[in-house]
Amino acid sequence: MILVTGGAGFIGSNFVQNWLTSTKEKLINLDKLTYAGNKINLDICLNDPNHIFIEGDIGDSEKVFKLLEQNKPRAVINFAAESHVDRSIELPGIFFETNVMGTLNLLESCKKYWLSLEGKEKENFRFLHISTDEVYGSLDKFEEGFDEDDPFRPNSPYSASKASSDLLVRSYFKTFNFPVLTSNCSNNFGPHQYPEKLIPLTIFNLIQKKEIPIYGKGDQVRDWLFVTDHCEAIKLILEKGTAGQVYNVGGNNERENLEVVKEICRKLDSVLPRDDLSPYEELIKFVDDRPGHDLRYAINSKKIKTELGWEPVESFNSGLDKTIQWYLNNPLWLKEIKSTDYSEWINKQYS
Ligand code: NAD
Ligand code: DAU
Repeated sequence: MILVTGGAGFIGSNFVQNWLTSTKEKLINLDKLTYAGNKINLDICLNDPNHIFIEGDIGDSEKVFKLLEQNKPRAVINFAAESHVDRSIELPGIFFETNVMGTLNLLESCKKYWLSLEGKEKENFRFLHISTDEVYGSLDKFEEGFDEDDPFRPNSPYSASKASSDLLVRSYFKTFNFPVLTSNCSNNFGPHQYPEKLIPLTIFNLIQKKEIPIYGKGDQVRDWLFVTDHCEAIKLILEKGTAGQVYNVGGNNERENLEVVKEICRKLDSVLPRDDLSPYEELIKFVDDRPGHDLRYAINSKKIKTELGWEPVESFNSGLDKTIQWYLNNPLWLKEIKSTDYSEWINKQYS
Protein backbone atom coordinates (compact mmCIF):
# COMPACT_ATOMS: atom_id res chain seq x y z
CA MET A 1 0.00 0.00 0.00
CA ILE A 2 1.18 3.50 -0.85
CA LEU A 3 -0.31 6.94 -0.09
CA VAL A 4 -0.36 9.53 -2.84
CA THR A 5 -1.34 13.19 -2.25
CA GLY A 6 -2.72 15.42 -5.02
CA GLY A 7 -3.75 12.39 -7.06
CA ALA A 8 -6.75 14.13 -8.65
CA GLY A 9 -4.57 16.73 -10.39
CA PHE A 10 -2.73 16.48 -13.69
CA ILE A 11 0.42 14.48 -12.89
CA GLY A 12 -1.08 12.76 -9.83
CA SER A 13 -4.05 11.33 -11.76
CA ASN A 14 -1.77 10.08 -14.54
CA PHE A 15 0.39 8.48 -11.86
CA VAL A 16 -2.62 6.82 -10.15
CA GLN A 17 -3.81 5.41 -13.47
CA ASN A 18 -0.32 4.19 -14.35
CA TRP A 19 0.11 2.61 -10.89
CA LEU A 20 -3.22 0.77 -10.94
CA THR A 21 -2.54 -0.71 -14.38
CA SER A 22 1.03 -1.75 -13.63
CA THR A 23 0.79 -3.20 -10.09
CA LYS A 24 -1.68 -4.92 -7.78
CA GLU A 25 -0.54 -2.85 -4.80
CA LYS A 26 -3.25 -0.69 -3.17
CA LEU A 27 -3.06 3.11 -3.38
CA ILE A 28 -4.74 5.71 -1.17
CA ASN A 29 -5.28 9.02 -2.90
CA LEU A 30 -5.62 12.07 -0.62
CA ASP A 31 -6.70 15.22 -2.47
CA LYS A 32 -8.33 18.47 -1.39
CA LEU A 33 -10.10 18.83 -4.77
CA THR A 34 -9.11 22.44 -5.37
CA TYR A 35 -9.99 24.04 -8.71
CA ALA A 36 -7.10 22.00 -10.21
CA GLY A 37 -8.16 18.63 -8.81
CA ASN A 38 -11.16 16.84 -10.23
CA LYS A 39 -12.61 13.37 -9.75
CA ILE A 40 -13.25 13.14 -13.50
CA ASN A 41 -9.49 12.79 -13.87
CA LEU A 42 -9.93 9.51 -12.00
CA ASP A 43 -13.06 8.21 -13.71
CA ILE A 44 -11.52 4.94 -14.85
CA CYS A 45 -9.89 4.36 -11.44
CA LEU A 46 -12.77 5.17 -9.08
CA ASN A 47 -14.23 1.66 -9.15
CA ASP A 48 -10.87 -0.08 -8.92
CA PRO A 49 -10.76 -1.93 -5.55
CA ASN A 50 -7.05 -1.06 -5.25
CA HIS A 51 -7.81 2.68 -5.30
CA ILE A 52 -9.12 4.45 -2.20
CA PHE A 53 -9.99 8.11 -2.72
CA ILE A 54 -10.09 10.41 0.32
CA GLU A 55 -10.98 14.08 0.13
CA GLY A 56 -8.71 16.03 2.48
CA ASP A 57 -5.90 18.50 3.01
CA ILE A 58 -2.23 17.55 3.42
CA GLY A 59 -2.11 20.25 6.12
CA ASP A 60 -4.68 18.39 8.25
CA SER A 61 -2.16 16.57 10.47
CA GLU A 62 -4.74 14.64 12.47
CA LYS A 63 -6.54 13.29 9.41
CA VAL A 64 -3.28 12.39 7.67
CA PHE A 65 -1.86 10.62 10.75
CA LYS A 66 -5.07 8.60 11.18
CA LEU A 67 -4.94 7.59 7.51
CA LEU A 68 -1.35 6.46 7.92
CA GLU A 69 -2.00 4.54 11.14
CA GLN A 70 -5.06 2.77 9.74
CA ASN A 71 -3.59 1.82 6.35
CA LYS A 72 0.13 1.42 7.11
CA PRO A 73 1.52 2.47 3.70
CA ARG A 74 5.14 1.63 2.85
CA ALA A 75 5.58 4.98 1.09
CA VAL A 76 4.09 8.45 0.62
CA ILE A 77 4.37 10.39 -2.65
CA ASN A 78 3.59 14.11 -2.34
CA PHE A 79 2.18 15.60 -5.55
CA ALA A 80 -0.21 17.98 -3.76
CA ALA A 81 0.57 21.62 -4.45
CA GLU A 82 -0.62 24.87 -5.91
CA SER A 83 1.18 24.67 -9.24
CA HIS A 84 0.40 27.62 -11.54
CA VAL A 85 3.00 30.41 -11.72
CA ASP A 86 0.53 33.07 -12.95
CA ARG A 87 -1.86 32.41 -10.05
CA SER A 88 1.09 32.69 -7.62
CA ILE A 89 1.72 36.20 -8.94
CA GLU A 90 -1.95 37.12 -8.34
CA LEU A 91 -2.51 35.32 -5.02
CA PRO A 92 0.73 34.10 -3.41
CA GLY A 93 -0.71 33.31 0.04
CA ILE A 94 -2.31 29.96 -0.77
CA PHE A 95 0.99 28.80 -2.36
CA PHE A 96 2.75 29.19 0.98
CA GLU A 97 -0.17 27.66 2.89
CA THR A 98 -0.19 24.52 0.79
CA ASN A 99 3.31 24.15 -0.60
CA VAL A 100 5.17 25.18 2.56
CA MET A 101 2.91 24.75 5.62
CA GLY A 102 1.04 21.84 4.01
CA THR A 103 4.30 20.05 3.25
CA LEU A 104 5.60 20.77 6.75
CA ASN A 105 2.46 19.29 8.37
CA LEU A 106 2.59 16.31 6.02
CA LEU A 107 6.25 15.71 6.90
CA GLU A 108 5.42 15.88 10.61
CA SER A 109 2.53 13.39 10.33
CA CYS A 110 4.65 11.04 8.22
CA LYS A 111 7.64 11.28 10.57
CA LYS A 112 5.42 10.48 13.56
CA TYR A 113 4.02 7.45 11.71
CA TRP A 114 7.51 6.33 10.58
CA LEU A 115 8.80 6.55 14.17
CA SER A 116 6.00 4.18 15.21
CA LEU A 117 7.21 1.52 12.73
CA GLU A 118 9.78 -1.13 13.51
CA GLY A 119 12.30 -3.36 11.73
CA LYS A 120 12.00 -3.76 7.94
CA GLU A 121 8.84 -1.62 7.75
CA LYS A 122 10.71 1.30 9.27
CA GLU A 123 13.86 0.67 7.25
CA ASN A 124 12.03 0.46 3.91
CA PHE A 125 9.62 3.39 4.38
CA ARG A 126 10.09 6.27 1.89
CA PHE A 127 8.68 9.82 1.50
CA LEU A 128 8.99 11.01 -2.10
CA HIS A 129 8.52 14.74 -2.68
CA ILE A 130 7.63 15.83 -6.23
CA SER A 131 9.23 19.14 -7.10
CA THR A 132 10.18 21.29 -10.05
CA ASP A 133 13.17 22.55 -12.04
CA GLU A 134 11.93 26.10 -11.36
CA VAL A 135 13.61 26.06 -7.93
CA TYR A 136 16.97 26.49 -9.72
CA GLY A 137 15.88 29.77 -11.36
CA SER A 138 16.46 30.75 -14.96
CA LEU A 139 19.23 29.92 -17.46
CA ASP A 140 20.70 31.94 -20.31
CA LYS A 141 20.22 30.49 -23.78
CA PHE A 142 23.55 28.60 -23.85
CA GLU A 143 24.11 27.64 -20.19
CA GLU A 144 24.37 23.96 -19.16
CA GLY A 145 21.17 22.34 -17.87
CA PHE A 146 20.45 22.31 -14.11
CA ASP A 147 22.04 19.56 -12.09
CA GLU A 148 21.14 18.38 -8.61
CA ASP A 149 23.84 20.45 -6.86
CA ASP A 150 22.92 23.77 -8.45
CA PRO A 151 21.95 26.53 -6.01
CA PHE A 152 18.30 27.48 -5.56
CA ARG A 153 17.39 30.81 -7.21
CA PRO A 154 13.58 30.81 -7.41
CA ASN A 155 12.05 33.81 -9.17
CA SER A 156 8.28 33.49 -8.71
CA PRO A 157 6.20 33.06 -5.55
CA TYR A 158 5.37 29.55 -6.86
CA SER A 159 9.02 28.52 -7.27
CA ALA A 160 9.95 30.18 -3.96
CA SER A 161 7.28 28.10 -2.21
CA LYS A 162 8.46 24.90 -3.91
CA ALA A 163 12.11 25.67 -3.07
CA SER A 164 11.06 26.18 0.56
CA SER A 165 9.28 22.82 0.57
CA ASP A 166 12.34 21.10 -0.94
CA LEU A 167 14.50 22.58 1.82
CA LEU A 168 12.07 21.39 4.49
CA VAL A 169 12.20 17.88 3.01
CA ARG A 170 16.01 18.01 3.00
CA SER A 171 16.05 19.18 6.63
CA TYR A 172 13.93 16.18 7.73
CA PHE A 173 16.57 13.87 6.30
CA LYS A 174 19.52 15.74 7.81
CA THR A 175 17.93 16.35 11.23
CA PHE A 176 15.76 13.26 11.80
CA ASN A 177 17.15 10.69 9.34
CA PHE A 178 13.61 10.60 7.94
CA PRO A 179 13.98 8.68 4.64
CA VAL A 180 13.08 11.23 1.95
CA LEU A 181 13.62 11.37 -1.79
CA THR A 182 13.09 14.45 -3.98
CA SER A 183 12.56 14.73 -7.72
CA ASN A 184 12.87 18.00 -9.63
CA CYS A 185 11.20 17.74 -13.00
CA SER A 186 10.83 19.92 -16.08
CA ASN A 187 7.54 20.98 -17.75
CA ASN A 188 5.09 18.09 -18.16
CA PHE A 189 2.42 17.79 -20.81
CA GLY A 190 -0.28 15.23 -21.58
CA PRO A 191 -3.90 14.29 -20.75
CA HIS A 192 -5.77 15.88 -17.78
CA GLN A 193 -3.65 19.05 -17.63
CA TYR A 194 -5.79 22.00 -16.52
CA PRO A 195 -6.10 24.35 -19.51
CA GLU A 196 -4.49 27.32 -17.76
CA LYS A 197 -0.99 26.00 -18.68
CA LEU A 198 0.52 26.75 -22.10
CA ILE A 199 -0.05 23.50 -24.04
CA PRO A 200 -3.62 22.65 -22.94
CA LEU A 201 -4.63 26.34 -23.05
CA THR A 202 -3.43 26.52 -26.66
CA ILE A 203 -5.27 23.34 -27.66
CA PHE A 204 -8.45 24.36 -25.81
CA ASN A 205 -8.47 27.88 -27.31
CA LEU A 206 -7.86 26.59 -30.81
CA ILE A 207 -10.67 24.03 -30.52
CA GLN A 208 -12.92 27.02 -29.65
CA LYS A 209 -11.31 29.12 -32.45
CA LYS A 210 -10.14 31.61 -29.82
CA GLU A 211 -6.87 33.61 -29.78
CA ILE A 212 -3.75 32.14 -28.15
CA PRO A 213 -1.97 34.54 -25.78
CA ILE A 214 1.84 34.46 -26.06
CA TYR A 215 3.66 36.30 -23.29
CA GLY A 216 6.32 38.76 -24.51
CA LYS A 217 8.05 37.59 -27.68
CA GLY A 218 7.46 33.89 -27.05
CA ASP A 219 11.20 33.23 -27.03
CA GLN A 220 11.31 31.62 -23.56
CA VAL A 221 12.47 28.01 -23.53
CA ARG A 222 10.99 25.09 -21.60
CA ASP A 223 12.12 21.43 -21.58
CA TRP A 224 9.00 19.33 -22.23
CA LEU A 225 8.43 15.85 -20.79
CA PHE A 226 5.42 13.66 -21.57
CA VAL A 227 3.63 12.91 -18.30
CA THR A 228 3.82 9.09 -18.46
CA ASP A 229 7.62 9.32 -18.76
CA HIS A 230 7.58 11.37 -15.56
CA CYS A 231 5.38 8.70 -13.88
CA GLU A 232 7.89 5.99 -14.82
CA ALA A 233 10.72 8.10 -13.39
CA ILE A 234 8.80 8.51 -10.12
CA LYS A 235 8.27 4.75 -9.78
CA LEU A 236 11.99 4.14 -10.36
CA ILE A 237 13.04 6.79 -7.84
CA LEU A 238 10.68 5.27 -5.27
CA GLU A 239 11.94 1.71 -5.76
CA LYS A 240 15.65 2.27 -6.46
CA GLY A 241 16.52 5.78 -5.27
CA THR A 242 18.80 6.34 -2.31
CA ALA A 243 17.24 8.06 0.71
CA GLY A 244 18.36 11.67 1.07
CA GLN A 245 19.06 12.02 -2.65
CA VAL A 246 17.63 14.42 -5.24
CA TYR A 247 16.96 13.34 -8.84
CA ASN A 248 16.48 15.77 -11.74
CA VAL A 249 14.12 14.59 -14.48
CA GLY A 250 13.99 16.24 -17.92
CA GLY A 251 12.64 15.51 -21.38
CA ASN A 252 15.61 16.74 -23.43
CA ASN A 253 12.98 18.53 -25.52
CA GLU A 254 13.86 22.19 -25.31
CA ARG A 255 11.54 24.40 -27.35
CA GLU A 256 10.75 28.12 -27.51
CA ASN A 257 7.13 28.84 -26.55
CA LEU A 258 6.31 30.28 -29.97
CA GLU A 259 7.67 27.13 -31.64
CA VAL A 260 5.49 24.94 -29.37
CA VAL A 261 2.35 26.94 -30.16
CA LYS A 262 3.07 26.96 -33.92
CA GLU A 263 3.58 23.18 -33.84
CA ILE A 264 0.17 22.71 -32.19
CA CYS A 265 -1.39 25.03 -34.82
CA ARG A 266 0.11 22.97 -37.66
CA LYS A 267 -1.07 19.69 -36.15
CA LEU A 268 -4.60 21.04 -35.72
CA ASP A 269 -4.60 22.38 -39.30
CA SER A 270 -4.48 18.75 -40.41
CA VAL A 271 -6.62 16.98 -37.76
CA LEU A 272 -9.27 19.70 -37.23
CA PRO A 273 -9.12 22.12 -40.20
CA ARG A 274 -10.98 25.43 -39.82
CA ASP A 275 -14.14 25.87 -41.92
CA ASP A 276 -12.43 28.33 -44.27
CA LEU A 277 -9.17 26.30 -44.16
CA SER A 278 -7.20 29.32 -42.90
CA PRO A 279 -4.19 28.43 -40.70
CA TYR A 280 -4.65 28.40 -36.91
CA GLU A 281 -1.43 30.44 -36.63
CA GLU A 282 -3.58 33.49 -37.44
CA LEU A 283 -4.97 33.19 -33.90
CA ILE A 284 -1.61 33.82 -32.22
CA LYS A 285 -1.68 37.04 -30.20
CA PHE A 286 1.31 38.56 -28.40
CA VAL A 287 0.34 39.90 -24.96
CA ASP A 288 2.13 41.56 -22.03
CA ASP A 289 4.95 39.49 -20.59
CA ARG A 290 4.68 37.57 -17.30
CA PRO A 291 6.41 39.59 -14.52
CA GLY A 292 9.76 38.01 -13.62
CA HIS A 293 9.38 35.59 -16.55
CA ASP A 294 12.12 32.94 -16.45
CA LEU A 295 13.89 32.83 -19.82
CA ARG A 296 14.93 29.18 -19.95
CA TYR A 297 14.79 25.92 -18.03
CA ALA A 298 16.86 22.88 -19.00
CA ILE A 299 17.63 19.74 -17.04
CA ASN A 300 20.69 17.56 -16.85
CA SER A 301 19.13 14.09 -16.30
CA LYS A 302 22.47 12.24 -16.20
CA LYS A 303 22.06 11.08 -12.59
CA ILE A 304 18.67 9.37 -12.96
CA LYS A 305 19.77 7.87 -16.29
CA THR A 306 23.06 6.42 -15.08
CA GLU A 307 22.11 5.51 -11.49
CA LEU A 308 18.53 4.33 -12.01
CA GLY A 309 18.46 3.47 -15.73
CA TRP A 310 15.60 5.85 -16.62
CA GLU A 311 15.00 6.92 -20.24
CA PRO A 312 11.96 8.77 -21.59
CA VAL A 313 9.99 6.85 -24.21
CA GLU A 314 7.94 9.57 -25.91
CA SER A 315 9.41 12.17 -28.27
CA PHE A 316 7.98 15.69 -28.16
CA ASN A 317 6.19 14.95 -31.42
CA SER A 318 4.59 11.63 -30.36
CA GLY A 319 3.63 13.08 -26.95
CA LEU A 320 2.04 16.12 -28.58
CA ASP A 321 0.02 13.94 -30.99
CA LYS A 322 -1.29 11.90 -28.02
CA THR A 323 -2.08 15.05 -26.04
CA ILE A 324 -3.99 16.75 -28.87
CA GLN A 325 -5.91 13.55 -29.58
CA TRP A 326 -6.85 13.21 -25.89
CA TYR A 327 -8.30 16.75 -25.75
CA LEU A 328 -10.18 16.21 -29.02
CA ASN A 329 -11.62 12.93 -27.72
CA ASN A 330 -12.75 14.38 -24.38
CA PRO A 331 -15.20 17.26 -24.94
CA LEU A 332 -17.09 16.31 -21.76
CA TRP A 333 -13.94 16.75 -19.69
CA LEU A 334 -13.44 20.22 -21.18
CA LYS A 335 -17.10 21.06 -20.54
CA GLU A 336 -16.79 20.03 -16.89
CA ILE A 337 -13.57 22.04 -16.46
CA LYS A 338 -15.23 25.11 -18.00
CA SER A 339 -18.02 24.89 -15.45
CA THR A 340 -15.61 25.34 -12.52
CA ASP A 341 -13.80 28.63 -11.81
CA TYR A 342 -12.07 28.38 -15.18
CA SER A 343 -13.89 31.11 -17.10
CA GLU A 344 -13.45 33.53 -14.20
CA TRP A 345 -9.67 32.98 -14.24
CA ILE A 346 -9.36 33.23 -18.04
CA ASN A 347 -11.46 36.41 -18.23
CA LYS A 348 -9.47 38.05 -15.46
CA GLN A 349 -6.08 36.99 -16.82
CA TYR A 350 -6.57 37.71 -20.51
CA SER A 351 -9.20 40.47 -20.74
P1 NAD B 1 -2.07 20.30 -10.41
O1 NAD B 1 -2.26 21.72 -10.02
O2 NAD B 1 -2.65 19.81 -11.69
O3 NAD B 1 -2.63 19.35 -9.25
C1 NAD B 1 -2.41 19.58 -7.89
C2 NAD B 1 -3.32 18.67 -7.10
O4 NAD B 1 -3.07 18.87 -5.71
C3 NAD B 1 -4.82 18.92 -7.31
O5 NAD B 1 -5.50 17.71 -7.48
C4 NAD B 1 -5.26 19.62 -6.03
O6 NAD B 1 -6.61 19.40 -5.72
C5 NAD B 1 -4.31 18.99 -5.02
N1 NAD B 1 -4.09 19.85 -3.85
C6 NAD B 1 -3.83 21.16 -3.80
N2 NAD B 1 -3.70 21.57 -2.54
C7 NAD B 1 -3.89 20.49 -1.74
C8 NAD B 1 -3.87 20.26 -0.35
N3 NAD B 1 -3.63 21.27 0.51
N4 NAD B 1 -4.08 19.02 0.11
C9 NAD B 1 -4.34 18.00 -0.73
N5 NAD B 1 -4.39 18.15 -2.07
C10 NAD B 1 -4.16 19.37 -2.57
O7 NAD B 1 -0.50 20.08 -10.37
P2 NAD B 1 0.42 19.13 -11.28
O8 NAD B 1 0.79 19.87 -12.50
O9 NAD B 1 -0.20 17.80 -11.36
O10 NAD B 1 1.72 19.06 -10.35
C11 NAD B 1 1.85 18.07 -9.34
C12 NAD B 1 3.16 18.28 -8.61
O11 NAD B 1 4.24 18.22 -9.55
C13 NAD B 1 3.26 19.66 -7.95
O12 NAD B 1 3.93 19.50 -6.73
C14 NAD B 1 4.11 20.48 -8.92
O13 NAD B 1 4.83 21.48 -8.24
C15 NAD B 1 5.03 19.40 -9.48
N6 NAD B 1 5.54 19.63 -10.84
C16 NAD B 1 4.66 19.94 -11.87
C17 NAD B 1 5.17 20.08 -13.16
C18 NAD B 1 4.27 20.41 -14.33
O14 NAD B 1 4.78 20.69 -15.43
N7 NAD B 1 2.96 20.35 -14.19
C19 NAD B 1 6.55 19.93 -13.39
C20 NAD B 1 7.38 19.64 -12.32
C21 NAD B 1 6.87 19.47 -11.05
O1 DAU C 1 9.15 23.75 -15.11
C1 DAU C 1 8.20 23.03 -14.39
C2 DAU C 1 7.00 23.91 -14.14
O2 DAU C 1 6.33 24.02 -15.38
C3 DAU C 1 6.06 23.37 -13.07
O3 DAU C 1 6.73 23.37 -11.85
C4 DAU C 1 4.80 24.23 -12.97
O4 DAU C 1 3.90 23.65 -12.05
C5 DAU C 1 4.16 24.28 -14.34
O5 DAU C 1 3.03 25.12 -14.30
C6 DAU C 1 5.16 24.79 -15.38
O6 DAU C 1 5.46 26.20 -15.18
P1 DAU C 1 5.58 27.20 -16.43
O7 DAU C 1 5.39 28.57 -15.96
O8 DAU C 1 6.80 26.91 -17.23
O9 DAU C 1 4.30 26.66 -17.28
P2 DAU C 1 3.15 27.43 -18.09
O10 DAU C 1 2.45 26.40 -18.90
O11 DAU C 1 2.36 28.32 -17.21
O12 DAU C 1 3.99 28.34 -19.09
C7 DAU C 1 4.91 27.77 -20.02
C8 DAU C 1 5.54 28.91 -20.79
O13 DAU C 1 4.53 29.51 -21.64
C9 DAU C 1 6.06 30.03 -19.91
O14 DAU C 1 7.23 30.56 -20.50
C10 DAU C 1 4.94 31.08 -19.95
C11 DAU C 1 4.36 30.90 -21.34
N1 DAU C 1 2.91 31.21 -21.46
C12 DAU C 1 2.05 30.60 -20.58
C13 DAU C 1 0.70 30.84 -20.64
C14 DAU C 1 -0.25 30.21 -19.66
C15 DAU C 1 2.43 32.04 -22.47
O15 DAU C 1 3.22 32.56 -23.29
N2 DAU C 1 1.09 32.27 -22.53
C16 DAU C 1 0.19 31.73 -21.65
O16 DAU C 1 -1.02 32.02 -21.75
